[in-house]
Amino acid sequence: MAGPVAQSLTGINIKSSQNRLLIKNGRVVNEDGMEDADVYIEDGIIKQVGRNLIIPGGTRTIDATGLLVMPGGVDPHTHFELEMMGAKTADDFYKGTRAAVAGGTTTIIDFVLPEKGQSLVEAYNHWRQKADNKVCCDYALHVGVTWWSPSVKKEMQQLVTEHGINSFKMFMAYKDAWMLNDYELCQVMETCVELKALPLIHAENGSIIARNTEKLLAAGVTGPEGHALSRDEEVEAEAVNRACVIANQMNAPLYIVHVMSKSAVQALRLARTRQKQPLFGETLAATIGTDGSHYGNACFRHAAAHVLSPPLRSPDTPAAIVDALAHDDLQIVASDNCTFHEKDKELGKDNFSKIPNGVNGVEDRMAILWQKAVNTGAMDPCRFVAVSSAAAARAFGLWPRKGRVCEGADADLALWDPRRERAISARTHHHATDFNIFEGQHVIGSPQYVIVNGRVCLDDGELRVVEGFGKFLPTPPNAPAVYGARGERAPSAAPPAAPESPRASPIYTNGTPTELSISNKQMEGLSVSGCSTPTGRKMREPGQRDLQNSTFSISQELEGLDTKTSVRVRNPPGGKSSGLW
Ligand code: URP
Ligand code: ZN
Ligand code: ZN
Repeated sequence: MAGPVAQSLTGINIKSSQNRLLIKNGRVVNEDGMEDADVYIEDGIIKQVGRNLIIPGGTRTIDATGLLVMPGGVDPHTHFELEMMGAKTADDFYKGTRAAVAGGTTTIIDFVLPEKGQSLVEAYNHWRQKADNKVCCDYALHVGVTWWSPSVKKEMQQLVTEHGINSFKMFMAYKDAWMLNDYELCQVMETCVELKALPLIHAENGSIIARNTEKLLAAGVTGPEGHALSRDEEVEAEAVNRACVIANQMNAPLYIVHVMSKSAVQALRLARTRQKQPLFGETLAATIGTDGSHYGNACFRHAAAHVLSPPLRSPDTPAAIVDALAHDDLQIVASDNCTFHEKDKELGKDNFSKIPNGVNGVEDRMAILWQKAVNTGAMDPCRFVAVSSAAAARAFGLWPRKGRVCEGADADLALWDPRRERAISARTHHHATDFNIFEGQHVIGSPQYVIVNGRVCLDDGELRVVEGFGKFLPTPPNAPAVYGARGERAPSAAPPAAPESPRASPIYTNGTPTELSISNKQMEGLSVSGCSTPTGRKMREPGQRDLQNSTFSISQELEGLDTKTSVRVRNPPGGKSSGLW
């Protein structure tokens, strides 16, 4: 007898055997090190990480030889089913999270953006209704504070205490729509501190943009290139600086979303020398994967598809931003996925200021980051994990449940094949749109399996998501990475407590992770690609060869490692010299 009946007759619980999964022979990568270990999952939770595990019969086994077993990506910045600038984003919560999973991301955080005057709780409930039955992976929400009044303050409190919100976004741009003035920014930040929530900022000077737009249009500049001209780097850097000053004056932590320029990074770096509270910098897959040269494309469709705010910058920006990520000037790579159909972008055919702002990225974020940062030698796989999942999970209080491969964590995993080669294309992506800003880019490194809460949703390259399978993740206030070091500058080598799991503890020395505990023997066992630097974050120094432009590849390096040898590197979460934790 075969099949389910036979199984139930022989006393095997079908449900639980389907809920058991063993990932064998892979290399587990966390932000603070990697080791050759098997991972056993039951009922959506990682139960064991190690070798020679005792596993119940009937467990499905995935052979992960040659694969990196990493935490599923955490993308803290998406806009699914958002109405803005007279249009609605093309990716809904189903297609958007489907695309996320296809690319190795297993948690997204979307933005509830209320209309001016609208109740924040009402907008939140609306977002929950849109998302709950559609998401293919877990999701959380930020709420935008797009207007200010005593009732908004009260609702912020309600959202934190009753609805699982721990972050609020403010806009310094989008004048006459979502923009707040400085006095209002002060009040929202103060309220965030009272609630132990994290303030997020869209940093661009909305008044300058409005005036520049009027002048450009009057001068006859109506095409997409006007978008970038109306808001150059200085306009972004001024706002980054002002946001940091306001946060510092209010004694608030701050998270700057979509940092797009070298000037903004410079402003952030300077602010960090004086900031009393943690300061997080997020950049985008778009920022490191493409550039502003596309605004000069004669085809409106092409140029308009690249319009987002702040805009893409000069062609030397992507490498500089990768460098900033490698050196911890920036901590997080998000997507700001906000896709629009061509017909919607055409709303701005005769006036660039009416082009709905937004690009794709949720699907390709991880592959683009790997290609631009790991394959070039700028970052090692541990830092990749930090910036693609762990740091965002920390910032929003989800770590180590998300963003870490350890016992007790959710079984959200990306089994990454560093050798898999493909070209990104709208013909094969999973977005609702038929344009991809990374079109034609050749990437080496992609997920082969993606596991969402214990379910194999990308199975040997085959996408098998389930609509509504994901859950809403309440985010708790007072996240240790945000409010854990209040009153002192978050010291670099003071990470939050190590994960509870005793399995994860051997990578720490006396509970305090430190790069000093890498033994010489361990160092010998590692080569350039294996978290080999003491910081665990940067593999290429100036003057060294660019791995992307040589015949050298990370996959060859991984092959060179004895996959039977346990490779365990001891770095603090995020590496040696984190400015945040
Ligand atoms: O252009 C962008 N970034 N669109 C989405 C809205 C926002 O400001 O994040
Ligand atoms: Zn924004
Ligand atoms: Zn956004």
